[in-house]
Amino acid sequence: MKVNGIHWRPIQLADDGWRVTIIDQTKLPHHFETVDLETMDQAAHAIRAMLVRGAPLIGATAAYGVALAMRSDASDSSLDAAIDTLARTRPTAVNLFWALERMRTALHNRPPSDRAEIAYQTASEIAEEDVRICEAIGDNGLPLLKEISERKAGNRVNVLTHCNAGWLATVDWGTALSPIYKAHDAGIDVHVWVDETRPRNQGASLTAWELGAHGVPHTVIVDNAGGHLMQHGQVDICITGTDRTTRTGDVCNKIGTYLKALAAHDNGIPFHVALPGPTIDWSVRDGVSEIPIEERSGDEVGILSGRAEDGSVVSISVLPEGSPAGNPAFDVTPARLVTGLITERGRCAASEAGLQGLYPEKADG
Ligand code: MRU
Repeated sequence: MKVNGIHWRPIQLADDGWRVTIIDQTKLPHHFETVDLETMDQAAHAIRAMLVRGAPLIGATAAYGVALAMRSDASDSSLDAAIDTLARTRPTAVNLFWALERMRTALHNRPPSDRAEIAYQTASEIAEEDVRICEAIGDNGLPLLKEISERKAGNRVNVLTHCNAGWLATVDWGTALSPIYKAHDAGIDVHVWVDETRPRNQGASLTAWELGAHGVPHTVIVDNAGGHLMQHGQVDICITGTDRTTRTGDVCNKIGTYLKALAAHDNGIPFHVALPGPTIDWSVRDGVSEIPIEERSGDEVGILSGRAEDGSVVSISVLPEGSPAGNPAFDVTPARLVTGLITERGRCAASEAGLQGLYPEKADG
């Protein structure tokens, strides 16, 4: 997608063909800065400290992290150590483990002299596939927004989204935002309610910035406002992303997603989840008991950062001294609260039968 008329991806190879350029998402929305990753440790840090975040982008960054490791030392022990380090960066988004497994499969039987080239090639394939997948998610989600627009005789379609599942969270297009970009570009009058998404504010800082850059009308709301807007007929549809979806259709996503699904259910509002195939964890049946939920530092709850009047970016504390803060980063929305899944292969029910209909090759495990 474009920033000031220039096409950017949140991850891409630098002109030298080996360094990996990322957009530092901790600096947005106030500063647009890029960072060149030169080592596997820098890639691991970028994921852990959330310079890059969002399930598909975490996977792509890990893949390039393995490539950086292979460039400096292509031995078996270096490959194992890189995969082990990268796998310990964040626990919830399954794309990370999917990408690392794919890198291991591509590399483990190959001679060390070939590994760097194969690793870069495989990482690029993962990235390019993600672009195609996310664009297809947009095409497959677009009819949902078109139908609502037609039903409302062309009046504004109000979509509520949570966290950031836009192009910044993927290699391009996004997942939940991809149908919205497609709809906007097709001339549908679409407006997005953007949950601020405390504590890290991915909605306020990233989704609002992306939508603004593309010219999509949007309004940032506090996380607690969604239920009220739904009760008053101001939300036509909810669309979110996911970090891990079980084979039975339970959806793990940014903390607070579950509450939005409950409110949508209570108000008869469709709640859809957009996801690429690699976000499905076919080994998990019950999301609530089986998906590891990342617990992040309480500092993210107690310390806010933002732009001061003089333009500088400052941090402020909002807690009384000594009050502890808990920070579970994700929650699980049971499949029964999800109206439908939007994938690169089409739409389906949030159920085992629905997912297996789209991914028949996964039927046995
Ligand atoms: O903690 P984050 O910012 O990595 O969480 C991101 C989300 O929860 C997204 O909704 C999810 O990864 C889907 S991104 C296409």
